[in-house]
Amino acid sequence: MFRYSKGFILPVLAATMMTAPMSAENVSVSTPKTSLALDITKGETLKFLYYGDRLNAADVAQLQSAGTFGKDAYPVYGLSAEAQAALSVQHADGNLTLDMSVEGFEQVAEANAKVLKVQLKDRVYPFYVTVCYRAYNDVDIIEMWTEIKNGEKQTVTLKQFDSAYMPIRRGDVWMSHFYGAWANEAQLSEEPLKPGTFVIENRDGVRNAQTSRGEVMFSLDGKAQENSGRVIGAAICYTGNYKLRAVTDESEYHQFFAGIDDYNSEYHLKKNETFVTPVTAFSYSKEGLSGVSRNFHRWGRKYKLANADRERKILLNSWEGVYLNINEKDMAQMMADIKSMGGELFVMDDGWFGEKYPRKTDNSALGDWKVDREKLPNGIEGLLDEAKKQGVKFGIWIEPEMSNTKSELYDKHPDWVIKAPKRELRTGRGGTQVVLDLANPKVQDFVFSVVDDLMTKYPEIDYIKWDANMHISNHGSQYLTADNQSHLYIDYHRGLEKALQRIRAKYPDLTIQDCASGGGRVNWGYLPYFDEFWTSDNTDALQRVYMQWGTSYFFPAIAMAAHISNAPNHQTARTVPLKFRTDVAMCGRLGMEIQPKVLSDVDKDQCRKAIADYKCIRPIVQFGDLYRLQSPFEKKGVASLMYVTEAKDKAVFYWFKTEAFCNQHLPRIPMAGLDPQKRYRVTELNRIDHSPLSFEGKTFSGEYLMQNGLEIPYGHNADWGKANEWASRVLLLEAL
Ligand code: DGJ
Repeated sequence: MFRYSKGFILPVLAATMMTAPMSAENVSVSTPKTSLALDITKGETLKFLYYGDRLNAADVAQLQSAGTFGKDAYPVYGLSAEAQAALSVQHADGNLTLDMSVEGFEQVAEANAKVLKVQLKDRVYPFYVTVCYRAYNDVDIIEMWTEIKNGEKQTVTLKQFDSAYMPIRRGDVWMSHFYGAWANEAQLSEEPLKPGTFVIENRDGVRNAQTSRGEVMFSLDGKAQENSGRVIGAAICYTGNYKLRAVTDESEYHQFFAGIDDYNSEYHLKKNETFVTPVTAFSYSKEGLSGVSRNFHRWGRKYKLANADRERKILLNSWEGVYLNINEKDMAQMMADIKSMGGELFVMDDGWFGEKYPRKTDNSALGDWKVDREKLPNGIEGLLDEAKKQGVKFGIWIEPEMSNTKSELYDKHPDWVIKAPKRELRTGRGGTQVVLDLANPKVQDFVFSVVDDLMTKYPEIDYIKWDANMHISNHGSQYLTADNQSHLYIDYHRGLEKALQRIRAKYPDLTIQDCASGGGRVNWGYLPYFDEFWTSDNTDALQRVYMQWGTSYFFPAIAMAAHISNAPNHQTARTVPLKFRTDVAMCGRLGMEIQPKVLSDVDKDQCRKAIADYKCIRPIVQFGDLYRLQSPFEKKGVASLMYVTEAKDKAVFYWFKTEAFCNQHLPRIPMAGLDPQKRYRVTELNRIDHSPLSFEGKTFSGEYLMQNGLEIPYGHNADWGKANEWASRVLLLEAL
């Protein structure tokens, strides 16, 4: 029997089981502010009744009398063949239909949540589905997944096997979702749900967040608002291909389905095997899109993201500074520079490895994780000694799931790569990159050993950047049998998760960055194994305002790596002043991605000051509540957001001009999330102006700031000739 891990970091207390009475019954699960209700009647189809504001027991009991007629809570294919289904199978005798009814249910108390499990059985076949709901006691998140068991004598083929289904009452419902590309991830799209089916599908095989994202929000009261209105958010927590469908048919409900993508992924479930689908997490809030974001951030920090109770270090990454031209002198100089600016960690990126086939360009050595002694005569030991001398921690880049055909690994194990039989090998980056077949347990061991060997030899390594720069382009496993080739997309990710689980079990304190050609793997399925993610390979500060905005819908600032980089920017060639670059990077986990040698002493001082200021606001940014205020996607010429501590005693407000026109009118931005009764003193951070802002050092009530905001000047008070089109502000608010 194989099972998906379901949040393996979640502490599960000895479960308390409550067996349920089995007459017709409305059953609800609740979080502090939300409830989900089902009609669980033995022998009948399981019905979904409600998801929204928390309900009391009396109202739960009355849902049908109020005119709420249940939709199937987990629609299956067959008897109403025209309807959309979450589950579709083919039995060994060829029968394509299912007809599931309730057998019973149980409620299990975990340390921080209650789990409701409803057991369904086919009316004819020994085929079982357990529909599961986990409602957290302290955050407004309900997770859904299913456990599909084949009790039949022969194999059953799973054709479609969604994790979750959610009917949403029709009205003026808008959907917010994300599309993108390399260097342009997390672009927001918002539109009303219209008749037809809207599908978000990821088929990359490896990087499931580059071109689309596995998360959506539904605004129930018309066009989405940041801080008001009812919103449902959903996130599939999975590392592989997924499919999200919003179906608007003739019924009174929009129907949302989320699950593993069925594209060429038929799964053969043997007798007595259980297939556990990945969790889809839901949240409901009356505080708009930002309200749902805050719920996901809290849940993520508490239950999902690795080591989320620890502040993240300020680092310098070598990639944009030296690219593959790693050498000892530059590494030492970069360590010294980041240390001198107040940073805490240096990360050596791609290019340090390869013995027989040194990695001079990106066409060799992936898989051969042996140091290139020509570039680094004193090896990793030498770098670790240097880091110790400089007083910074040391991190290193790897891409463990990949190989190049120009590598010792490929010479030895050509059978370990993903490849369709009888076809020429298709390659990726550098014309030689190939993906290792993680369905193969030997490859799983190898991937584990890449980290394990490094950490065994060099236990002082503090940080690993785990990259993945290719999709599956040769659909074929040299390990799986001919009749199970359609398992590849799924078994790859089972193998990957197994390796990641072993790594996390052995190295829980190691900081690991989730990177995949930038933000290609930003999904809650990954983050239990990772401490943070690389948001995008695009470090252009203006484009980052947009990408970080989109990413913040579901992912907290503590995990969002944001680096100050060169001007002109290496991706867009845009020249953005250092002030704007530091301010944007300070919205997330601050770092640098630059050769510091190119910075003047004045610029270095500015970075030193920004790093010092960031250390003061780090707990607010990394553990605070996000309030998005003005979206850059609305094209009003300005973007603004803020973080507020849970106690509402401190906040950081950010304001970015996104366009520059003469005599342009920009909206004044009311703040949010403050305590109306408290008075806050305002201090500008990263100031470059000659004279302070009019409100510098002054105090204002939270009420005033939330009703009116502050009038932010459109430009900076700088010397003539230094003035430019860019303006940005970071304000610290401290309650008296
Ligand atoms: C892609 C990553 O996103 C970059 O940051 C960098 O690590 C390169 N790969 C290295 O090859």
